[in-house]
Amino acid sequence: MLSIIVAVGENNVIGKDNQLIWHLPRDMKHFKETTTGHYIIMGRKTFESNGRPLPNRTNVIITRDKDYNAEGCIVVHSLEEAINLAKDDPEPFIIGGGVIYEIAMPLVDRIYLTQIHHKFNGDTFFPEINLDEWMEVEKRDFEPDEKNKYPFTISTLDRKK
Ligand SMILES: NC(=O)c1ccc[n+]([C@@H]2O[C@H](COP(=O)([O-])OP(=O)(O)OC[C@H]3O[C@@H](n4cnc5c(N)ncnc54)[C@H](OP(=O)(O)O)[C@@H]3O)[C@@H](O)[C@H]2O)c1
Repeated sequence: MLSIIVAVGENNVIGKDNQLIWHLPRDMKHFKETTTGHYIIMGRKTFESNGRPLPNRTNVIITRDKDYNAEGCIVVHSLEEAINLAKDDPEPFIIGGGVIYEIAMPLVDRIYLTQIHHKFNGDTFFPEINLDEWMEVEKRDFEPDEKNKYPFTISTLDRKK
């Protein structure tokens, strides 16, 4: 099982100026709970946006730069190399960003999708999900509260066989 985990605003926006646009601690908790203990595979820009390896996960960074180093992370030079490294993990996660999601989309079996019900301006997008190819197997709605400003829905989509 290879999975994507992503949070999108309306129009599939995922980031702006190499940063996340929103702050939703409840969704961050979902991200942490879902990915802890697993390989997390990311593009070099997403790693630099996080600014550090995420704890209790094996952080794999994809870059074309053969000299790239990041303490506490494994650096690879293709998505295939990253997936191959994670082959003993029952569920490695592709955690972004836009470029890596785009190339990983045809390869993944599952998408953990957070949809934030708000329109944001941004410069990075998640690829269009063709709903003919995907089946929603779980869905939870979250209302805004004092810590989470926007309503959102967390769904799990499995690729149809
Ligand atoms: N909302 C979310 O769930 C979410 C999740 C993650 C990220 N984001 C956002 O997404 C944005 C970053 O996304 P992005 O699309 O700009 O960048 P990215 O996908 O994180 O990283 C792109 C980089 O990956 C490397 N790369 C891409 N394709 C490659 C290939 N085929 N072979 C080897 N290396 C390859 C290149 O690194 P080099 O240039 O070093 O060669 C490239 O510049 C940020 O705004 C971030 O906050 C949002």
